[in-house]
Amino acid sequence: MTEPTEETWRRVDRYFADTLVGHDAALEQAVADQNRAGLPPIEVAPVNGKFLNLLARMSGAERVLEIGTLGGYSTIWLARALPEGGRVVTIEAEPANAAVARQNLARAGVGDKVDILVGRAEAVLPTLASEAPFDLVFIDADKESSSLYLDWAARLGRPGTVVVVDNVGRGGRVADADSTDPGVTGMQRGLQMLGQDPRFDATALQTLDAKGWDGVAIALVV
Ligand code: DHB
Ligand code: MG
Repeated sequence: MTEPTEETWRRVDRYFADTLVGHDAALEQAVADQNRAGLPPIEVAPVNGKFLNLLARMSGAERVLEIGTLGGYSTIWLARALPEGGRVVTIEAEPANAAVARQNLARAGVGDKVDILVGRAEAVLPTLASEAPFDLVFIDADKESSSLYLDWAARLGRPGTVVVVDNVGRGGRVADADSTDPGVTGMQRGLQMLGQDPRFDATALQTLDAKGWDGVAIALVV
């Protein structure tokens, strides 16, 4: 057996990405522009972007909510999953990030399918309560607020809504019961909520990809 060293798992991730995801000018340009603009390189890995796209299509999602736009990389993957008339509402706290995302979405040809709402998600989420429910919610913002965002995902969803949470593994630190890192303890509270709150049924998978060792949780609103 090949040992699971960093070199070998990175090679496997590249193999999966090359074999199954392929290359796409708009997505690669979005990452390049995001990096040039000085945004942190914390967009999802290509295999993870494709995962989001497939989940949205498998669930027949027409209305998608994303919390944490960054430069719009995952937003492009989600917008491309939508049928005619579908929408992504994506929330971004940093106006400078939103400006990068707006350009990236336009270049990818999905700008007209996406509403970027600029502001703190905590303040923006309540304004969405009068809209039709969301079919899929992707949470990829500050980890401290994970349980708050999950509560809103349940409130803004409906039975059958798919909820995906990025970064649940945090390089293994999520299993550290003594952690005082607010990002880790915030994610621990979110996962406890997914395990115990009767509105959700959930699991999580560890990921080893271009972004390192992390994980993704997937939940169904029941
Ligand atoms: C961080 C945030 C992310 O959403 C991610 O995918 C990786 C890292 C962070 O804040 O460090
Ligand atoms: Mg993330």
